[in-house]
Amino acid sequence: MKHSTLLLSIILSLLALPSSAQVKPAEPTLKEAFAGQFLVGVAVSHSFIERNNTPCLNLICEQFNAVSPEDVMKPETIHPAPSVWNFGKGDAYCKFASDHGLKALGHTLMWHNQTPDFFWLNEDGSVRTKEQMQATLVEYVEKTVTHFAGKVYAWDVVNEFISEEGGYRNDKGWEKYYPGNLDELVCLAFETAHRCAPNAELYYNDYNMWRQTKVDGVVRLVKMLQSKGIRIDGVGIQAHWGLNYPSTHDIETTIDRLHALGVKVMITEFDIDMLPFSKEGQMTGKAMYDPALQRDEFMRYLNPYADELPASVDQEVADRYEQIMRTIWGRRDKIARVTFWGLHDGVSWKNNYPIPNRKNYPLIFDRKLQKKKAFHQIISIPTKN
Ligand code: XIL
Repeated sequence: MKHSTLLLSIILSLLALPSSAQVKPAEPTLKEAFAGQFLVGVAVSHSFIERNNTPCLNLICEQFNAVSPEDVMKPETIHPAPSVWNFGKGDAYCKFASDHGLKALGHTLMWHNQTPDFFWLNEDGSVRTKEQMQATLVEYVEKTVTHFAGKVYAWDVVNEFISEEGGYRNDKGWEKYYPGNLDELVCLAFETAHRCAPNAELYYNDYNMWRQTKVDGVVRLVKMLQSKGIRIDGVGIQAHWGLNYPSTHDIETTIDRLHALGVKVMITEFDIDMLPFSKEGQMTGKAMYDPALQRDEFMRYLNPYADELPASVDQEVADRYEQIMRTIWGRRDKIARVTFWGLHDGVSWKNNYPIPNRKNYPLIFDRKLQKKKAFHQIISIPTKN
C-alpha cells in the first residue's frame, strides 16, 4: 500500500470508531487545571533534592508551579547553635526552584517549634533577658532574609502565634518577655523582614483557621500591623484537615474574613488526615506519643490501614478532597495559592503526627507516585463548573 493510501485508511478507520473508543484527551496537570486562578504548590522533602530523587523531582516540576521547603528553612536547620549558620540546604532548595521556574516560599522565620533553645536560654539553662532574646531574633531574621533575598518570593514571617480562643498563645516561651501581648514581637519580626527584603511578600501563617475565634485573633493581628503602617501581604490557612471537619461553611467564612482585610489568602499546608482521632478535630501536641499507646491493641484501632487502603476509604478521601477543593474553587477570586503539604502519602508528616508510626493516606499521589482518585476528582472541578 502506498503511504498516502495507508494514511487515508488510518484516518478513515479512526473516524469510524465509536466515540467511547476514541483516545481520551490527556488529563491536565494541576498547574494547568488551575492556571490563571491560583498557584498550586507542594512542600518539598529535602531528601528528594539531596538524593536526586528524579521521579519525585520530575513529578513536582510536571504538576506544580510553587514550592515550600518542608523543613530546611526553619531556625533549627539554619541556625542550630549560636555560632553556626547553615544555608546550604535552603540554597539547594532555591536552586531547584529557580532551575525549574517554580515560585519558592521561605518558611518560616518565627515559630515556637523547630527553633533551638538558645534563642531563649543561656548555656547554663538560665533564661536570657529580653534584650538578648530580641538581639538573637533580629540577627536571625536579618541574616536569613538577607541571604535569601531575591531567591524566595515570599516569607511566612510569623507562624502559629494565635490561640484557639483568639488571644496570643501563652504556652511557647515568647510570652515570658511580653506578658499577655506579643504585638511588639510580631511588629519587630515583620519590620525586620521588610527592611531586609523589601521585595519579598510577607505572610502570617496558622492552623485551625476554620475556628472563627482563632480567625478573630488573626484578623486583629493583621489590623494591628496595618494600623501601624507595617507591611503584611498575606495570610496562610494551613489546612491540616480531616474527613469530617471543618465544615465548608467555616472554610468559606474564613476566606471571606481574611480577604476583606485586603491581603492575599492562601491554603498553605493542605492535607487530609484520614486516620482515627483526626476525624472530629485536630489533635495537637504529642500526648499520643506515650509508649503505652503504641501497644498492639491500640495500634490495631489507631492504624487500621497498615497493610492497604480499602477502595471505599480511598473514595471517601477523594470525595472529601473534591468537596474542599470545590469550596476553594468557589472562592477562587479570593485565593492566591493552594499548597499540598507533601508530594505523596509515603513522605507525609501525617504518618508520624499526632501519633507516631502509622500508615496514613492524606495526599493526592500514592506511595508509588500514582495519581489517586482524589487527584482525578480535583482536576475535573474547573471543567465540571
Ligand atoms: C512539619 C513537617 O512536615 C515535619 O517534617 C516536621 O517534622 C514538623 O513540621 N505547621 C507548619 C509546618 O507550619 O512547618 C509543619 O511541618 C506542620 C505544621
